[in-house]
Amino acid sequence: MEKKRQFFTTPIYYVNAKPHLGHAYTSIAADVATRFKQMDNQETYFLTGTDEHGDKIVQAAEKQNTSPKAYADQISQLFQDILPLLQIKNDQFIRTTDPEHIQVVTAILTKIHDSGDIYFASYEGLYCFGCERFYQERELVDGKCPDHGVAPEKIKESNYFFKMSKYQEWLIDHINTHENFIQPDQYKNEILSFLKEPLEDLCISRPKTRLTWGITLPFDPDYVTYVWFDALVNYVSALGYPDGDKFKRFWPTTRHFVAKDIIKPHGIYWPIMLKAAGIDIYEGLNVHGFWNVKGSKMSKSIGNVTDPIEVTKEFGVDPFRYFLMREMVFGLDANFTEDAIVARINADLANDLGNLFSRILSMNTRYFKGEIMGQDPALAAQFSLEANAITAIDGFKEAMERCQFHKGLASIWAFISTMNKYIDTNEPWSLAKDPSKESALGTVLYNLIEGVRVVSCLIYPVMPATSHKMQRALGLEIPTKGFFALDQILPWAQIKKGASLDKPEILFPRIDIKKSASPKNAPVKKAKAFKPALKEEISIEDFSKIDLRAATILSAEKIETSNKLVKLVVDLGAQTRQVIAGIGKSYTPQELVGKQVIVVANLKEAQIMGELSQGMVLAASHKKELILSGFEKDLLPGNSVK
Ligand code: MSP
Repeated sequence: MEKKRQFFTTPIYYVNAKPHLGHAYTSIAADVATRFKQMDNQETYFLTGTDEHGDKIVQAAEKQNTSPKAYADQISQLFQDILPLLQIKNDQFIRTTDPEHIQVVTAILTKIHDSGDIYFASYEGLYCFGCERFYQERELVDGKCPDHGVAPEKIKESNYFFKMSKYQEWLIDHINTHENFIQPDQYKNEILSFLKEPLEDLCISRPKTRLTWGITLPFDPDYVTYVWFDALVNYVSALGYPDGDKFKRFWPTTRHFVAKDIIKPHGIYWPIMLKAAGIDIYEGLNVHGFWNVKGSKMSKSIGNVTDPIEVTKEFGVDPFRYFLMREMVFGLDANFTEDAIVARINADLANDLGNLFSRILSMNTRYFKGEIMGQDPALAAQFSLEANAITAIDGFKEAMERCQFHKGLASIWAFISTMNKYIDTNEPWSLAKDPSKESALGTVLYNLIEGVRVVSCLIYPVMPATSHKMQRALGLEIPTKGFFALDQILPWAQIKKGASLDKPEILFPRIDIKKSASPKNAPVKKAKAFKPALKEEISIEDFSKIDLRAATILSAEKIETSNKLVKLVVDLGAQTRQVIAGIGKSYTPQELVGKQVIVVANLKEAQIMGELSQGMVLAASHKKELILSGFEKDLLPGNSVK
């Protein structure tokens, strides 16, 4: 039978700034997914790269007094250099300045132009130079670009347009008939809700009078193509479209990893471009949320842009990868703080896994001079951890298939916790005191050694170096491909009786909290106290009448007739509700989706501007803005808030 295949991509990153935590996350997530598929005996291809044309790069280069190409070379190199440092094993790194890529963009533009889906027209519109695109009035927040906070300029230009509107119904149908096309579901709903409005044709050219750093349109030398029309094509040009062997083998199996900021180009422009060019549509998008740092969006002005290399220097690569995969619920936003990473390292890695591993091997050294006793067949059933291992493997597999990395890890850690309890229950130190219990002691230790063998295999996609370290300490011969496949983990009882194991080195040193409590851990900004007159005192009984619940925002859209109201659909665990909230001046709908908020769940229903509102979200006002309440960690929607 032919091997199953999978092609994973990351976005190609802009070279206007060096790599930060957000870029590292997407690339690590794609790397983890790739390694998992390899463990599942699939043939994989993993692409990442840099997006090097457009105004952003020209401006960044100007600031450095250098040419766009020299600047792109320098930053692209940083993105390439960071990969091995984060243990990311990509198969290819593409740059949009590669001649082969430029050739494919040119060919696809020609094809779509020839088929009549690109037309020339004069256009007057609102243009944001930061985003390098035209905006519709309704997309602006208070007349300003939602991303850059500046009013776009009105410009009139003759340009080339791509007939996206022609494909709107087709796209809606494609999304509805391909269940996993956009995952998780909240992002599929966001795209479908956007597609309820008529789709504008896309302006795909920029006159050379304004921008020369781009790919020249094959049908008009006075224009370059819009940076997204160039960038998206990387996914097929990298595979050697149209005739390349890799293109034929891998393209139908493509899943693009992206964050929520770029689902529109990926979920709308890209499938329509493919359709118009007569290329098969990719399999799907895996969309994740945003990392905030110390509670705020990363930004140069706040000074919280986090350099992943600095983090790995302080905490190590495997712990960093573990933290990113364990802490973020794929699809939702997460918060990065040093306290949080230290807490995870100390609790999950040093304590739960590290201690377990060293306890087991140390006991085996102490009681049997390191020799593996094997299990006594008469006692095997009584002390077996096999069923727990099977549950861990199954839970891991199921979660990893769906990019639920946090759940996959939780499944392994549930098994680790079972083993820690198993030690406490079976008290090997007591068995060791009674010579008649020697075979029971040997059987207990053997099961534990087998248990950590299983763990060493399962953690491979997230912590490859630790997986190898454990396997070496267990005397296992690591397969040449670098990991044990999922179907090699069982059967149980693979480790040979009689082998001799040394006392292991420490897997994860504990981090001294005082040492890491650097000024970097201080809150981003110290606020002055705000002291309004307080309301009349209430009793705890009065307070307990209010049913406050944790809720996740599933979708958000502006109410057109109001400048501040937003229609939210929130997940309350047992049910979803529609809530109308007056937060539209402070948040864009895109920013809201995936956020966890506190909802007053037993507020009487009300009609607000003709819309039903079934609750209220809590927010505080701050400098004319409303700041939503939320939680330090992601939790299950529906949880009661007290
Ligand atoms: N060049 C375009 C993508 C073109 S793909 C054909 C671009 N580049 S970018 O440098 O801005 O990268 C955006 C991507 O970086 C996000 O989609 C996400 O993968 C990653 N992240 C950037 N900031 C992030 C966070 N704060 N959190 C998580 N990931 C984020 O857009």
